[in-house]
Amino acid sequence: MGEIPSHPAKMTLGLAGHNKDDRERRLAEIRQSLGARSIVLIGLMGAGKTAVGRRLAAWLDLPFTDADSEIEEAAGQTITEIFAEHGETYFRDGERKVIARLLEGSPQVLATGGGAYMNPKTRAAIKARGISIWLKADLRVLLKRVARRDHRPLLAVGDPEAVMKKLMAERDPIYAKADITVESRDVPHDVIVGAVVDALADALGCEALPTRSATTATPRRKKVQ
Ligand code: S3P
Repeated sequence: MGEIPSHPAKMTLGLAGHNKDDRERRLAEIRQSLGARSIVLIGLMGAGKTAVGRRLAAWLDLPFTDADSEIEEAAGQTITEIFAEHGETYFRDGERKVIARLLEGSPQVLATGGGAYMNPKTRAAIKARGISIWLKADLRVLLKRVARRDHRPLLAVGDPEAVMKKLMAERDPIYAKADITVESRDVPHDVIVGAVVDALADALGCEALPTRSATTATPRRKKVQ
């Protein structure tokens, strides 16, 4: 087996069209424009928040935090156990507190659980301390991704397709309040990371270098102040 490349993801990212110096400059510009804010990924189960978030953090040289893991650590239980023993309301309360605490920290890439953004207090905290990115995936993509794992209590009861459709109807209008929306398609996660980077640069007004691709980035961008 050959040597493991130090940063294999960079080969396939949306910024691959730029040379290395341009790319680094652009990423540095994004980091600088963020100031004290964190990047907060929101969206349904299976949207790729953790996988994309981890890679995005590596690219931007920021710490990555997964809210669900932090909740599990704080509770000393898995999310499935929390739901089973204490119920969803208890979980939601803990989720709100943990995310509020995490947002008080230094800039990071924070992947939230699918229901977190539904809480108005959490939405307000994210607005105050971060830039929200909705990873928006279609039903087929979401179902394909969640079928690989069985750790999600909301999908353990009833027909996953019906549950997911219901959640999409309830949540999509709220997710749409995010600062940035990026289509999370059935392509390698690194391609989505590239689109996120382009959309972030655009929303933050990093104009030194043009975005490589307008087609892979968000269809609906808002300027983030
Ligand atoms: C939930 C999503 C899960 C987890 C919990 C509830 C939801 O996180 O927080 O099972 O309400 O959509 P992921 O979106 O990371 O799967």
